[in-house]
Parts: sequence; structure tokens; C-alpha cells
Amino acid sequence: MDMHEIRIKAREKLKGVCRVCPVCDGRACTGEVPGMGGIGGGAAFMENVSAFRAVKLNLRALHSSPVPDLSLELWGRTLALPVMAAPLAGAKTNMGGALSEDELADGLHAGSRAAGTVAWSGDAFVPGIFEAGLKAVGKQGGYGIVTIKPHGTEEIIRRVRMAEEAGAIAAAVDVDAAAFRPPAPALPVGAGNPAELEKIVRSTKLPIILKGIMTPDEAVAAANIGVSGIVVSNHGGRALEACPATVEVLPSVAAAVRGRIKVFVDGGLRNGADVLKALALGADAALIGRPLVPAVVGGGAEGVALYFAKLAAELLSAMILTGESKARAVRRHTVYRPA
Ligand SMILES: Cc1cc2nc3c(=O)[nH]c(=O)nc-3n(C[C@H](O)[C@H](O)[C@H](O)COP(=O)(O)O)c2cc1C
Repeated sequence: MDMHEIRIKAREKLKGVCRVCPVCDGRACTGEVPGMGGIGGGAAFMENVSAFRAVKLNLRALHSSPVPDLSLELWGRTLALPVMAAPLAGAKTNMGGALSEDELADGLHAGSRAAGTVAWSGDAFVPGIFEAGLKAVGKQGGYGIVTIKPHGTEEIIRRVRMAEEAGAIAAAVDVDAAAFRPPAPALPVGAGNPAELEKIVRSTKLPIILKGIMTPDEAVAAANIGVSGIVVSNHGGRALEACPATVEVLPSVAAAVRGRIKVFVDGGLRNGADVLKALALGADAALIGRPLVPAVVGGGAEGVALYFAKLAAELLSAMILTGESKARAVRRHTVYRPA
């Protein structure tokens, strides 16, 4: 199977829920949430993609560096490339039942691992989704990052414990999903204030990551309560439409906490050069979401591994052509700034 065949098969199985566009940019699926789109008019999704595309790289070929090293150290593990599979859940609600929740989670986790990287599992405010992801992480001997919705401190701690038992590398809370369910009168809204989140950090030895940090002040607050990492993310434009693009805020957010905690970014990365841009602008690694859906629907774990292999080849080529030799030490001067 090659990527072309995988995408043809995915287009058949997805029956229009995802159009499997040549570049996944949010135009065809505007407003389709549930589904694959961005919320409202889809601006935040589309702008994530266009803002990454607008960043340009300086071509520098006068060097004789060794073959670039794409690897990344992450809490005692070595990843073969600095890009991971973002949490993608909801096989039925978002993907029209083109595959089962278990097939989705297993394909993403096994395929990412085969490519030398790691997948993040997803969660929802309905039962079954979190469990499918956790099971998939367990099947990989814990080689995964477990993402938990902002269910409230007690329930999050319970799920972190389950992630620990599965042997996960880390646990994340997607704080930007705080408005995904109508606030019940008796329940507090929001993801939890820093004091509540600190209880979660203190409840476990697992690294805790907050996904959905978009400002330097919240990045500093996260570092101050002891989280191990943040994801600069607006949930792929599915949470608040009037958000800046993630790559726009990445430099200031990363600068606020650089060296203290890991900084990841997602939203709109579509090729290896985009990954290099993320690293040059301060990220330790990136996450990719929607483009993995055709890969997993059309090709299962093999499709996911093939997708990452293509991305790694693109990143390698971009690093050679910018004179970057180590993914863990990409320099800011690789991003072009008009004089
Ligand atoms: C269908 C779908 C399901 C998602 N499920 C989750 C989830 O369960 N947990 C989560 O934190 N983020 C979830 N996300 C957000 C992604 O993890 C990620 O932040 C976003 O898709 C990145 O942008 P990109 O798709 O443009 O690469 C989901 C996104 C989509 C499109």
C-alpha cells in the first residue's frame, strides 16, 4: 500500500465526513463540529494552517553538516522524530463510523510507535472513548501519552491513576475543552484554577501536560504549579473561533517558559518544513492531528507509520537545506525575517 492508495480507500470509507483534501486546510469542512472541521466559520482552523504556511525558512546550503539528527529526548525516552500524533477521538461522532473507536486508537498508537514516535490518546464527556485510548496505550506497553478532558479535579486524578497503571509516558489535560459540554447547574465551569490543577500535579509521579495554553501568562502559571509540559494549542480551531493561530503565539509563549518545561505546539502543521518552523520558533516538538485521519482510516497502523515516514523525510530535507543538524537545537535564524 502507498499513501495514494491509502487516501483513495479513506475517501471511500469516510463518505464525505472528511473530504481527504490535497491539503487539509479547513475550507471544505467549515463549521463541521462534530465532524472534522473548525468551529463556527472555521476561521481558527484555517488560520492555523495559513499562518504556518506564511512562515518562511532561510535556505542555507553552504555547509557540510552530518546527516541531520531528528531525534528528541522526552522524559527518559528517545523519539526518532520531533513530531507526535495528536489526540484524535470520536470515530463515530467525528468520523462517521468509518472505523471503530478501538481501531482508531490502536491504529494511531501502533503506527506511531512503529515510526519511532508516540501517540496521544483522546477523551470525551461520554463513556467509552477514554477507555479505548487507554486500552490502546496499554497494548503498546504504555508507550503513549494519555489525554484527559477537564472532568473536574477528582475525576482527572482518577484517570491519571489509570494512565499510571497502563504505564503511560505522561498524562495531559486538554484545558481548552472546558466549554465542550453545557455547564450543569451544580458543576463549576472551566478547567480548574491553578490551585486545583496543582493538586493533580502533586497526585502523581507522571509528567503532567496542559494542552490548550495560548498566552505567556498561563504558560508561566502552568510552570509555577509544576507541570512538565504545555501544548500551545487551540484544539485545531474547535474551541474558540476568535483565537490567534498557534504559530502566531508560539514564540512569546515558548520564550516565557523556555528551559523550565517542555513546549509542544499543534494546529495547522501540514509537512516537515512546518515542523522545522515550530522548532525554530521555540517548540521542543509538534503534534499533528487531522492529516492522520485519512492515514489511519485508509491504512490502519501501516498508514500512520507511512505518514510519519513521509513527514520525517520532509523534515530531513528541510534541515539539510537550512543547515540545521539537530532537531533538538534548531536556531531561530532559520526563520526568514524580511529586512
Ligand atoms: C476529530 C478530532 C478529534 C479530536 N479529539 C481530541 C481529543 O479527544 N482530545 C484532545 O485533546 N484533542 C482532540 N482533538 C484536537 C487535536 O488533538 C489537535 O489539537 C488538533 O486537531 C491539531 O490541529 P490539526 O488537526 O490542524 O493538526 C481532536 C481533533 C479532531 C479534528
